[in-house]
Amino acid sequence: MRPVVAIDGPAGSGKGTLARMIASHFDFVYLDTGLLYRTVAFLNIPLAEVRKLSVEKLLEETSKLDDKLLRSPENSVKASTIAKMPEIRDVVTGLQRDFIDLFNEKGTVLDGRDIGTVVVPDACCKLFITADLKERAKRRFADLKDKNTTFDEVFRNMKIRDNQDKSRKIAPLTCDKTYLMIDTTGQSVEESFKICREAVRKAFINSEYGSFV
Ligand code: DC
Repeated sequence: MRPVVAIDGPAGSGKGTLARMIASHFDFVYLDTGLLYRTVAFLNIPLAEVRKLSVEKLLEETSKLDDKLLRSPENSVKASTIAKMPEIRDVVTGLQRDFIDLFNEKGTVLDGRDIGTVVVPDACCKLFITADLKERAKRRFADLKDKNTTFDEVFRNMKIRDNQDKSRKIAPLTCDKTYLMIDTTGQSVEESFKICREAVRKAFINSEYGSFV
């Protein structure tokens, strides 16, 4: 088992917000794995170059980019598209495992689509965060600072991504019985956080990593 909180779920489910809150509460190190795919997609980094990158170097590239552009609807679909490529997934999965090794003494929180199924199936705690498609699109639309888009466009893009992420052949978004599923539809962030926090605490206390919480 590894001292990792693996958080998976569809776009706009609130998993990123909850992952950050969990990391900050327990003093774990957080990795938004979607940002790795978004950076590779945004910079159109060829596979041969991605293979040469360390996780630190890729995160350095990410930090130089404008978050708004990385998270734009166009780059979201682009990231989801390159994330279907097995060779890209292999390399990015390796980088995520390097990150986990790097911070093994502190504990890590990773959020994405295949963290608990592929990247680190032996994570100490696995959470699957979800919500209604309409509610997720509403949240994403409210988050977009620059409203250069319409609600309908955000809704449509999210639906395309849901389908791409769930139906791809490799590492599709899926929830099995090793996860605790949390449906955040109609919940406040505080309500969802309380459920997550207790789940993490319980999982760690019942493992060899009790001292981490
Ligand atoms: O979490 P996000 O919405 O920022 O992720 C952007 C895209 O990257 C998402 O549509 C699918 C892909 N992704 C993935 O395939 N596996 C991950 N662990 C994280 C993201």
